[in-house]
Amino acid sequence: MNAAPSPAIATKLLAWYDRHARDLPWRVGPLDLAKGVRPDPYRVWLSEIMLQQTTVAAVRDYFAKFTAKWPNVDALAAASEDDILRAWAGLGYYSRARNLKKCADAVMSSHDGRFPQTAAALRDLPGIGDYTSAAIAAIAFDEPVAVVDGNVERVMTRLFAIDTPLPEAKKGIKAKTQALTPERRPGDFAQAMMDLGATLCTPKRPACMHCPLRADCAALTKGDPERFPVKPPKKAKPVRRGAAFVLTNRDGAILLEKRGDSGLLAGMTQVPTTEWSARRDGETGTGSAPLPGIDWISCGTIVHVFTHFELRLDVYRGEGEKAPAAHQWWSAPDDIAGEALPTVMKKVLGLAIEHESEHDLS
Ligand code: ADE
Repeated sequence: MNAAPSPAIATKLLAWYDRHARDLPWRVGPLDLAKGVRPDPYRVWLSEIMLQQTTVAAVRDYFAKFTAKWPNVDALAAASEDDILRAWAGLGYYSRARNLKKCADAVMSSHDGRFPQTAAALRDLPGIGDYTSAAIAAIAFDEPVAVVDGNVERVMTRLFAIDTPLPEAKKGIKAKTQALTPERRPGDFAQAMMDLGATLCTPKRPACMHCPLRADCAALTKGDPERFPVKPPKKAKPVRRGAAFVLTNRDGAILLEKRGDSGLLAGMTQVPTTEWSARRDGETGTGSAPLPGIDWISCGTIVHVFTHFELRLDVYRGEGEKAPAAHQWWSAPDDIAGEALPTVMKKVLGLAIEHESEHDLS
């Protein structure tokens, strides 16, 4: 069966969105939009950057924290990169936070403090790629451009039973989404596609009975929507190993340091560690400690999965004093929660603290 003509699909989807749009803190819902309320481009931009590779549930608290601290782009541009990294800690993909600052600076210095209004112009700003430029242009400025994220890819490959594997299928999906995108309410259309993917057209057990597009869905007609999108076989992730050293002084402060300015977790905070090496015979025992003269106690191993590799870190704890190097400092117990610690380091500290409390009890 052929899909219905595009306007019919957009019309059905928008009617569904009018009733079922998710209430999200950065969103102006369809009722308010109809009354003339306009979305704030700053909040749209911030939410779209935060939502890349992450779920709405993970983003809510960060979005509330950021907008309370920095309610507009001027305020964010005035913040330091370190403050932004501290507030971002735990959300992952930290280059996004660094680009956030660069983008806010560029909006202030090159655009008079106002976001440009087209996808093409937005695309020139730091940290804004194909997806984000289209999302901001459609949602904040009503430009009828195709907005394609993972949810939309799933909806589209099912709607048209596209069995070319991703990422090869991406170009075709974008063209088809563009053909469906209406001139009126393109932002609502984009968000409706995303909501459909997040709430009904889910990866497993999609709720096709409730879907406004069920009569148009080629995958449903074929009887196996879960088969889409077709993905190439997964490659096993390489494993890297290392050791991390949690040193506590007599005041209970922990020795922390800032990572270098480029590469993985650039500018974020960590405890002293070895290199994270792909070599199986890489040294991860106490002999590898970058701090000599401490009686290190083994606490076990944490595993953290990054995009391109899996990291296994042996964790050690010890007590002692040390004059911090230029990139190091002692962080008092009350200050630890506000440090720019990525999730992998929160796991390291969590394991060391758990080990210590268990050890104290025995
Ligand atoms: N995921 C990313 N951006 C979104 C948006 N604007 N609405 C719903 N889900 C999203």
